[in-house]
Amino acid sequence: MENKIKILFICLGNICRSPAAEGAFRNLVKERNLEYKFEIDSCGTSGYHDGELPDPRTRKVALKRGIELTHRSRKLRQSDLDNYDYLLVMDDQNFREVISLMREDSVKNKVFKFAKFRSDSGSDIVPDPYYGTEKDFESVQNLVEDCSIGFLKFLGE
Ligand code: 4NP
Repeated sequence: MENKIKILFICLGNICRSPAAEGAFRNLVKERNLEYKFEIDSCGTSGYHDGELPDPRTRKVALKRGIELTHRSRKLRQSDLDNYDYLLVMDDQNFREVISLMREDSVKNKVFKFAKFRSDSGSDIVPDPYYGTEKDFESVQNLVEDCSIGFLKFLGE
């Protein structure tokens, strides 16, 4: 369906935060029977982990919430900037990177920091858990689930 809302979650490696966000948002949309409305994907600005499944810690924490992550890491493509309606980045570095790739100012308003949609007044970044502990992965999972609810509300659902 061509008129689906196209949403792309973006981080650096596309093995921790953005696949967790993609999974959480996908799961929420499924629970609400809204799958027909959305096209959802994730990618990384780096390509360091091209073709890989999400980090085992990301998968383990998601699975505890009943979310199976099968996404394969891919690098952000120039065409994504045109094709997607919403580009949801995890931190300031991702934000700057995506904006810098945009050739027209008119598309820059598609880029949002995902953590702006959180329900509390905490930081607007989703911190990178890669060098952290399982607790950091749990925090990321909690945050992306919370932001998914906020973002879906923002979309009017
Ligand atoms: P992500 O985490 O951006 O949330 O997927 C990272 C994963 C890998 C690396 C950096 C961040 N890395 O440098 O390999």
